[in-house]
Amino acid sequence: MSDRPQPLFITFEGIDGAGKSTHIATLAERLRHQGRAVTVTREPGGTALAEALRENLLRTSMDALTEALLVFAARRDHLRHVIEPALAAGQVVLCDRFTDATFAYQGYGRGFDLDVLRTLERWVQSGPAGWRQPDLTLWFDVPPEVAAARLAQARAPDRFEAQPQAFFERVAAGYATRAAEAPQRIVRIDARAEVSAVWQQVEAACRARGVLP
Ligand code: TYD
Repeated sequence: MSDRPQPLFITFEGIDGAGKSTHIATLAERLRHQGRAVTVTREPGGTALAEALRENLLRTSMDALTEALLVFAARRDHLRHVIEPALAAGQVVLCDRFTDATFAYQGYGRGFDLDVLRTLERWVQSGPAGWRQPDLTLWFDVPPEVAAARLAQARAPDRFEAQPQAFFERVAAGYATRAAEAPQRIVRIDARAEVSAVWQQVEAACRARGVLP
């Protein structure tokens, strides 16, 4: 037996405008209050190289294979330099998006080959600790029209946010398919509700997994 805290890798998913960010910050604060060391990070991004790739992914037009390769290149760098070291140190890693986003956006949204994504997933997420997958994924599910209305009030759209609603219908359906394939890992959060009601669901999911007391 050791007192070493259990490392935890938690990811947050959903279409643009689902409202993940507030809850990532609240969960980080709660975990730190419990005395846990927490790394909050995002994809694409989290390292200098991955943030540079993010800028290109969000602004530069490219084909679907290039997009998938860049997303996974960013992920590899992020895993090696941020996620794996934090988990090795017993931290909780809260990551805004991970590979489910690649399946939802590049796979179901763009229509890119899911088998190629599965192959890249295995390559990129393999390391000394085995095949890295999140311990828990909170999927913020919101109808595309609600998300679009939220985004319209926010800021200038990036290359993904500027996609038509039909794209987000496919991405949302992709998330639903992923959740059905991994029901023990992915927990659906009904993100239509107001912030406090959404947080209650996040808290309940975290309590059920022993992430929060
Ligand atoms: P997002 O995480 O929503 O950040 P912000 O809140 O700053 O807009 O934006 C990242 C975008 O990248 C989002 O539109 C989804 C897209 N994306 C992919 O297409 N594939 C991926 O694998 C990841 C991680 C993100």
